[in-house]
Amino acid sequence: MKWHNKVTSLLNITYPVVQAPMLGITTPEMVAAVSEAGGLGSLPVGGLSADQTRELIRAVKSLTSKPFAVNLFAHSVPSSIDAAAFTAMQEFLTSFAAVNDITYVPPVQEMLRFHTYHDQIDILLSEQIPSVSFTFGIPEDEHIATLKNRGARLIGTATCVEEALLLDNKFVDVITAQGAEAGGHRGTFITEGNPPMIGTMSLVPQIVDAIRRPVLAAGGIADGGTMMAAMMLGAQGVQVGSAFLVCNESSAPNAHKHRIQNASSSDAVLTKNFSGRWARGIENKLMRAIGESGLATLPYPYQQSLTASIRSFAQQKDLTDFATMWAGQSASKAVRKPAAAIFQLLIQQAQTSFELIERHVQVKE
Ligand SMILES: Cc1cc2nc3c(=O)[nH]c(=O)nc-3n(C[C@H](O)[C@H](O)[C@H](O)COP(=O)(O)O)c2cc1C
Repeated sequence: MKWHNKVTSLLNITYPVVQAPMLGITTPEMVAAVSEAGGLGSLPVGGLSADQTRELIRAVKSLTSKPFAVNLFAHSVPSSIDAAAFTAMQEFLTSFAAVNDITYVPPVQEMLRFHTYHDQIDILLSEQIPSVSFTFGIPEDEHIATLKNRGARLIGTATCVEEALLLDNKFVDVITAQGAEAGGHRGTFITEGNPPMIGTMSLVPQIVDAIRRPVLAAGGIADGGTMMAAMMLGAQGVQVGSAFLVCNESSAPNAHKHRIQNASSSDAVLTKNFSGRWARGIENKLMRAIGESGLATLPYPYQQSLTASIRSFAQQKDLTDFATMWAGQSASKAVRKPAAAIFQLLIQQAQTSFELIERHVQVKE
């Protein structure tokens, strides 16, 4: 099968497969392994400082000279929040932590400072990043123009046709159609309310029909069969996240990896409780307790800051009851192998699926 298409030529890769950026999971080693194997590794830096961003980019560069993407969060931070709701959530989390023997350091609302992509863009330019992907919105026109003038390819995330059209109108080069199956945050940016929950199979062909740019399918792509199905629907590539969750290069602790591998497709639920933005992850005690408290969650990234200390305690102690375990509906298919082996298997399986389809068509003729 010939893999060369618009996506491979725009992103300068051999196979049209993007390793999804997964903040908290993806390491420079994972990015480099996938880029070395001929795909596009993606380094997530959403919400990090300029210094952290530079350090991670340089870590990837020390491991590979192949192209890779850097992934930004293109959201805006609310200028004010409901102080009483913040205090109520903080008090609830303080007593929850005490009952569960968790060391909780509550954030002080007035002291909170958030990094946005504005703090990172100069680093991406000076490091000459070849592909920049983003989610939660669209960077401002001036930033799109600067990145494009410097030769960067832009990859935007859409969860419905309307968002894809907005990205298309801004000359974003490649559009990721993120179906409802996907693990992690919904990339939704046209509404603050309930996000569109269109499955990959319905979303991909509708976006392909509506826009002029090549489309990557994301959400539930876990093997060669699902990859080939997405390509049959018109996608020119795929963005794969959950399949790399437990790979050797993933930074998830051991019990976390075990829980992911033993999850059923219905364990990966949609929640706002950890971060204030809708995201899909494995249900656990912390997620349920916040929901059962009846308290309003704060908007992103305030809720994220409120739960951060509990989640990082859980991460350090590998306590799955209190950690964030973002995962898609196909996460249990993930295997503990090097990222390169997972990548190569995906390509081999896709090739086999393609040959089977070809043979089937010939038999029917
Ligand atoms: C643990 C985890 C973290 C994620 N973090 C990010 C992120 O930082 N930036 C982003 O654009 N997408 C992020 N995503 C979403 C992925 O880019 C992608 O849409 C999703 O993984 C595709 O669905 P799949 O998990 O079924 O493969 C994350 C997904 C997971 C599972």
